[in-house]
Amino acid sequence: MKAPVRVAVTGAAGQIGYSLLFRIASGEMLGKDQPVILHLLDLPQAQTALKGVMMELEDCAFPLLAGMVATDDPNVAFKDVKVALLVGARPRSKGMERKDLLEANGAIFTVQGKALNDHAARDVKVLVVGNPANTNAWIAMKSAPDLDPKNFTAMLRLDHNRALSQIAAKTGKPVAAIEKLAVWGNHSPTMYADYRFATIDGQSVKTLINDDVWNRDVFLPTVGKRGAAIIEARGLSSAASAANAAIDHIHDWVLGSNGKWVTMGVPSDGSYGIPEGVMYGVPVVCENGEYKRVEGLEIDAFSRERMDLTLAELEEERAAIAHLFG
Ligand code: NAD
Ligand code: LMR
Repeated sequence: MKAPVRVAVTGAAGQIGYSLLFRIASGEMLGKDQPVILHLLDLPQAQTALKGVMMELEDCAFPLLAGMVATDDPNVAFKDVKVALLVGARPRSKGMERKDLLEANGAIFTVQGKALNDHAARDVKVLVVGNPANTNAWIAMKSAPDLDPKNFTAMLRLDHNRALSQIAAKTGKPVAAIEKLAVWGNHSPTMYADYRFATIDGQSVKTLINDDVWNRDVFLPTVGKRGAAIIEARGLSSAASAANAAIDHIHDWVLGSNGKWVTMGVPSDGSYGIPEGVMYGVPVVCENGEYKRVEGLEIDAFSRERMDLTLAELEEERAAIAHLFG
């Protein structure tokens, strides 16, 4: 039996937490042979609800669940963790401006980044789900100077999965057959889902669909505004699909994507004309516990415009929290 891996989940008493924890404990994220110890962080006022979730986890009698730690202290939550899913965040409330939201989350993610810096395993893999996910991930990364920046990522896998489903529906082909999809930029309506390189059984998806108007007027707005459509329909933001995307993201990062392209928000490095200094969604392939950007893709004029638009939004978000870093 392998030694247990410590996995932190923040916002553990929330809706995504409720869809996420049971799947981690059943081995869907790190493998059916990998025991886990769950480190569950939530606010003091959520500790009672968190106890209830832990009672349910116990009642599942998961063979891979080797222990649980419940806390409201990030320094305890991140002690020795090898995986950290930062889900808990301050939601936008009535009358709150985007800037106020960034400010409130800036406070949370500086503290959590520092706690990761001080207590987590040196090779910890961090995924930020809580919105605004890219900028929160950037704040956490900047607050953890002793950790490798490449260990910090933001979740764009939900956008990636949403785009896969839309393409499958349009082409009448199974999702599993779609290869080489990319999603660029911010996890927000400005993200750019790009199927120019995608194939299905070796055939070009762009040629199969052959409809640029559909791409611009239907596909991109549907994927970009899917989160809002779900809030409108459910009265709550996406939870099970967000948890599923988080499982996919960490699973592939740790266990490999089998040569498939997947999308991760990672620190920009100047490639594709995206300057350093933001967390930007890019296509990657994962192998041996590392992600590697897909390189050398051609960026046409339409894509350039979309990629710059989502970059501009990320730069604006960064400007709003720049004071946190002097
Ligand atoms: P929720 O309100 O149901 O749960 C959030 C939990 O986080 C609550 O239990 C709350 O007490 C906790 N929390 C708040 N601040 C915290 C802190 N400082 N430390 C620890 N815990 C804290 O929300 P949810 O539906 O689970 O969504 C969580 C976040 O994920 C939101 O920001 C949401 O917008 C975001 N989200 C992101 C994606 C994505 O694709 N990146 C998709 C869906 C939702
Ligand atoms: C989603 O994409 O479903 C969420 O990010 C939406 C939201 O605003 O919580």
